[in-house]
Amino acid sequence: MSGAEAAQVPRHVAIVMDGNGRWAKARHRPRSFGHNAGRKAVREVVEACLREGVQALTLFAFSSENWQRPQDEVGALMGLFVRALDKEVEELHGHGVRLRFIGDLSAFDEPLRQLMQAAMTHTAGNTRLQVNIAVSYGGRWDIVQASRQAAAAVARGELRAEDIDETCLGQWMSLADLPPLDLFIRTGGECRISNFLLWQVAYAELYFTDTLWPDFDQACLRQAIEDYARRERRYGRTGEQVATAS
Ligand code: IPE
Ligand code: IPE
Ligand code: MG
Repeated sequence: MSGAEAAQVPRHVAIVMDGNGRWAKARHRPRSFGHNAGRKAVREVVEACLREGVQALTLFAFSSENWQRPQDEVGALMGLFVRALDKEVEELHGHGVRLRFIGDLSAFDEPLRQLMQAAMTHTAGNTRLQVNIAVSYGGRWDIVQASRQAAAAVARGELRAEDIDETCLGQWMSLADLPPLDLFIRTGGECRISNFLLWQVAYAELYFTDTLWPDFDQACLRQAIEDYARRERRYGRTGEQVATAS
């Protein structure tokens, strides 16, 4: 194992892939040029996660709020998703990657939904690395859809409202079956969550970098993991308690 010890490698990493527009603007190119360039960075982080032994990688590709962007940009992004699904899935499959899409998938048109479904089915048996792509995803949407499932269980008489606790509601949140989120990375210099994994981020370590997404590479991820390995995760306890427990 390279670099950090296995215990210091985050099991689950999430990334807000931000900065494509500014990267393109600096090159006097349209924003879609930056989104296209971001594909290479996705390949880089997937390779780095495979090498480091990360179990799950969750990428924010399109937020609930991104539907408000100019129509041509939204269209370019949809086209990019289709091309990426056509071209990259087989290679990911070859690396043992299991793909999953999270978010309000009903917002997409049928051909794209079918491509996403086909990619999930095709890679469902893989176990080396779980890659989740968040599309039309919002952390508030996630909490709402989990609450709806809880309410439906109550309506069916399978659950009592007073028995809903954090563990119970948490089981309906996206990614509940995966290791808890350890490391939350945002590229592009902004220090905000932008409605990404609100529930799941509760005790993740946050890492912000000015690097624009298309420039993010394997060395950048290594740097984030090294930073993570130096953190002391206390979960509300004291440093002394943590030291005695380990
Ligand atoms: C992130 O890059 C990609 C998406 C939101 C789809 P941006 O497009 O937000 O890039 P900046 O923040 O304008 O540079
Ligand atoms: C967050 O980036 C969404 C994705 C990276 C997909 P934005 O660029 O949309 O976030 P804001 O608008 O700066 O908060
Ligand atoms: Mg942005």
